[in-house]
Amino acid sequence: MSHIIAVINQKGGVGKTTTTLNVAAYLAKAGRSVLVIDADPQANATSGLQINKHELDHTLYDVLFQRAKLTDVVRTTNLEGLHILPSNADLAAAEIDMVSSSSRELILKNSLTNQSFDYILIDCPPALGLLTVNALAAANKILIPVQAEYYALEGLSQLLAGVQQVREGLNPDLMLLGVVLTMYDSRTSLSTQVKEEIQKHFGDKVFDAVIPRNVRLAEAPSYGKTILEHDKWSKGARAYKHLTQEVMKRAEQ
Ligand SMILES: Nc1ncnc2c1ncn2[C@@H]1O[C@H](COP(=O)(O)OP(=O)(O)O)[C@@H](O)[C@H]1O
Ligand SMILES: [Mg+2]
Repeated sequence: MSHIIAVINQKGGVGKTTTTLNVAAYLAKAGRSVLVIDADPQANATSGLQINKHELDHTLYDVLFQRAKLTDVVRTTNLEGLHILPSNADLAAAEIDMVSSSSRELILKNSLTNQSFDYILIDCPPALGLLTVNALAAANKILIPVQAEYYALEGLSQLLAGVQQVREGLNPDLMLLGVVLTMYDSRTSLSTQVKEEIQKHFGDKVFDAVIPRNVRLAEAPSYGKTILEHDKWSKGARAYKHLTQEVMKRAEQ
């Protein structure tokens, strides 16, 4: 069975896409077969892997609505073992188009039968809408990136309530893989405070790896590269490598 991880936080700009791509890269480097599903109409994961989202014949949207087969839409990337199910702005219509379906929360899950990846990472949009519910229904694990900033905790209880609802209804097996602090600045007391707050709430679910604010992480997507290819010796790279080791340990134990 695949480890299907939804990378989720309804806030934008907290590091979901950065975490998805870089953990996926290190999982592939560790020899796992990995699929990234770009479930955000902004399609940053797609362009971050050097795919031109304006030149796609088929996308996740076509797979969801059975206009194309998963295997025909999945693409390989520059990294061996790393694949992507790309998206573009078409996906914005999916939420509306899904509503009329009788099993509207299970469309993504049903699209993923008969695949054999070791890991599937779903890069969720910054909302708790139907796309995110589909991701939560398809996943067996969730990973929550939390930005080390003043309002970090705000919205988290709403997020957890949403996850709990999905667990009770659609997907009892969904478990919290962990919470990772992103854009951490060890020079500020604010970052330290947020870390302590998060640890109080989530205990040992908080990963030891903390992702620092690091310019190399921010610039990598503009080259269509993961941090592993852009600058593997950077602080950001080392942090994502460490996080991936923890992800594998928790998932595979
Ligand atoms: N650790 C980090 N250090 C510096 N910049 C980062 C870091 N993580 C993400 N960013 C940048 O912050 C912005 C938001 O990150 P992103 O991963 O796209 O968040 P989300 O997917 O949650 O919206 C992007 O421009 C990204 O390059
Ligand atoms: Mg994103």
